[in-house]
Parts: sequence; C-alpha cells; structure tokens
Amino acid sequence: MLDLLIKNASLPDGRTHMSVAVQNGKIVNVQASLDAPAHVTVDANGYLLSPPFVDPHFHMDATLSYGLPRVNESGTLLEGIAVWGELKPTLKADAIIDRALTYCDWAVAKGLLAIRSHVDTSDASLLAVDALLEVKKQVAPYIDLQLVAFPQDGVLRSKGGVDNLQRALDKGVDVVGGIPHFERTMAEGAASVKLLCEIAAERGKLVDMHCDETDDPMSRHIETLAFEAQRLGLQGRVNGSHCTSMHSMDNYYVSKLLPLIAESGVSVSVIANPLINITLQGRHDTYPKRRGMTRVPELMAAGVNVAFGHDCVMDPWYGMGSGDMLEVAHMGLHVAQMTSQKGIRDCFDAVTVNAAKVMHLEGYGLEAGCDASFVLLQARDVVEAIRLRANRLKVWKNGMLAAETPEVAANLRLPRRPSTTRFMT
Ligand code: FE2
Repeated sequence: MLDLLIKNASLPDGRTHMSVAVQNGKIVNVQASLDAPAHVTVDANGYLLSPPFVDPHFHMDATLSYGLPRVNESGTLLEGIAVWGELKPTLKADAIIDRALTYCDWAVAKGLLAIRSHVDTSDASLLAVDALLEVKKQVAPYIDLQLVAFPQDGVLRSKGGVDNLQRALDKGVDVVGGIPHFERTMAEGAASVKLLCEIAAERGKLVDMHCDETDDPMSRHIETLAFEAQRLGLQGRVNGSHCTSMHSMDNYYVSKLLPLIAESGVSVSVIANPLINITLQGRHDTYPKRRGMTRVPELMAAGVNVAFGHDCVMDPWYGMGSGDMLEVAHMGLHVAQMTSQKGIRDCFDAVTVNAAKVMHLEGYGLEAGCDASFVLLQARDVVEAIRLRANRLKVWKNGMLAAETPEVAANLRLPRRPSTTRFMT
C-alpha cells in the first residue's frame, strides 16, 4: 500500500497522464497511468506537477521590514544600504525571527521549499546570524534554508569584517559570501574575492558572492571569481550573484569573459535577480535606461548554470513580492527577452533545477529515489505556469501535504458567454 499516489499529472518535461507513487517520504515510481492502492490518491486532472521552487538568492534577515525605519525614497541600491544601516542598530532577534517565519509561511504556500539566504555579518554581535540559525532550525521540517555569511559593509572595508565572517562560519553558516564591488577600490575588491575564496577552500565551504552589482562596465570581479575558483579547485562550488555589470560591459570583453567562466570547469554559476535588477539598476541613466540584468541567454548558451533569485521581498531595496518564484521567472523572461518556447522553459528551469544545482540540493527532482517534495500547479505546462503565475493547488514536502489553495476561477455574469473562466484557451 503506497502512502500517496498522484494520478494524471503533466510533468515539466512535457509527459502527460503520469502517476507519481510515494512511500516513506520518497518517490518510488514515476510512470504513465500507474494505478495502485494508496492511503491517499490525488487526481491531478492533467495539471502540472513540478519539483518545488528554489530561491538561490535571498535576504531573510531584512525581509518584511519595508518602511522600517523609513522607506527608500530614491529606490537606489545605495540608499537601500543606508536605510538598512539605520535599521540595524534597532534590530531585535525576536523580530527578525518573526518576520522570517512569516515569510517562510508565504514561501511554502507558493511551493518554494528551498532558499539560500544571505545574512549580514557586518555587526560584531552577529545578532542576525543567530536569529537566522534559529529560523533554519525551526523551518527544517518544511524548508531547506541555507545561509551565506554576507559582509554587507565590505569584508575589508568594515572594521572586524574578516573576523565577524569567520565567527559566523564557526557558528554553522553554510556558505562564504562577499561584496567586492562595495570595497574601497577595484584592487581591494579583487583582494576580497581572493581572500574569501581561500577561506572557503580551507574550510571546505561553498562560495556565493554578490558580484558586480553595479552598472559600471569596468566592474569585473566575476573575472577574478572565475579565476580563483579554478586556481583553488573549487569546481562546481562557486557562484556569482547579480553580475549586473555584465549588462553594460563592452561586447568584445564579454566574448572573452563568457568562455573564461565556462572554462573554469562549470565552477561558476550565475544568479540573476530580475525583479531587483530591473528596479535598482540604470538609476543613474536618463534615457535610454539600461535594464541592468546580466546576460542570461548568452551565459546559458556558453554552458554556464544560470538561476534566478528573488533577492528581496518588502525590504529597504524592494517593496513588492510574496515569495512567488513564477513572478521572478516571468520578469526574467521579459527583461532577458527569452520569449521563445525554449527560452520560457529555460526561465522555468532557472527557478527550479538550475537553482537546486546552485544550492547542491540532494534528492531534488521528479524521479524514483528523489524526495517526495513537489507542487501541483493550476496550469497544464511550464509555459502556462509562468504566463499565469499559476495558483499552487497543493504543495507536498517529503510526502506531507504542507499547503493547499483552492482552484481559482472567475465567475462571469455575461450574456451568451460561459459562467466561469480560468484564463486558459
Ligand atoms: Fe542580494
């Protein structure tokens, strides 16, 4: 007797009429039209069953703090950093934990079951680090929360930056972060990349740096990051986040850079954050305004793993959002103009399988042997899922039903027309 059998599901790879069988929290069989006795049987009605959404780049210590202590009026990255600096001295661990747990509720409801969150290590008290380590423990039954030690004020620029980051890693933070473009000079930025990669290599940690989050075409820390990844043998363990300067770089230089990143032995993944890149970048431009997102289709074509992150939800940098990775994919495909069928599917991968690869998630996927964690979407395929930012009908974590949303339909009161619509042709 199976614990759970889902019948008549469509899968992201295009297969239809598929059954997914679950026993002891694991997928034991994925097969067309399988019928077997189960404690719970769910008819998917042809809707899409997807592995859970994964957010490979988030800031959970700042989330849901929008307006505290004031709103970022200019909307720039730098005013956001200033507002965060004003908020930091007043932060209390309990409030950070409360806000983070509320966000995790939203995430689960949206089928987002794995999140990599940066946590600011600039403050010597490491208050935010302790708070998010507590959140990680509390949400462990339903969200894989991975933490990155993130020296927001610059690991070299701020007093005690290296020591604070090392202590955060000692406490159990998983990944080494950085922010080279915020260091005092280009040379110090490069030195910070080298130093942080060496710390990660010594400790056997993954690396994920905010890298070139600027419109400056000369900000080229991604080059140093790819080089250090290769030099230190960190193959597959290094990630560059944002990389927005690549949008503005000279085309000739990029034609050299892309193979360099790919050649570093798939050592570097790139995370674009479409919602935040489109709002924060190009702020010094008049018209035309640059979009500021990194070169997503070109990186993918070069063989680099590219994922999309949410980055922020209701914090000093971004006042919108609800933990919906389909909204992220939707914005990503618009900004990157990835409107072909393949492009749209690539955007779906960017918030699922590619992001899982960044996080080194084990047991991720829709195959026998994987964790029984998945989302039933009110859409028939991945293109429709992104178009509709589809409703999450049911969300399972390790075979446990974790969230449900009723099917949505608008009731129409029109002459000679159907009584409802679900926005499907
Ligand atoms: Fe970020």
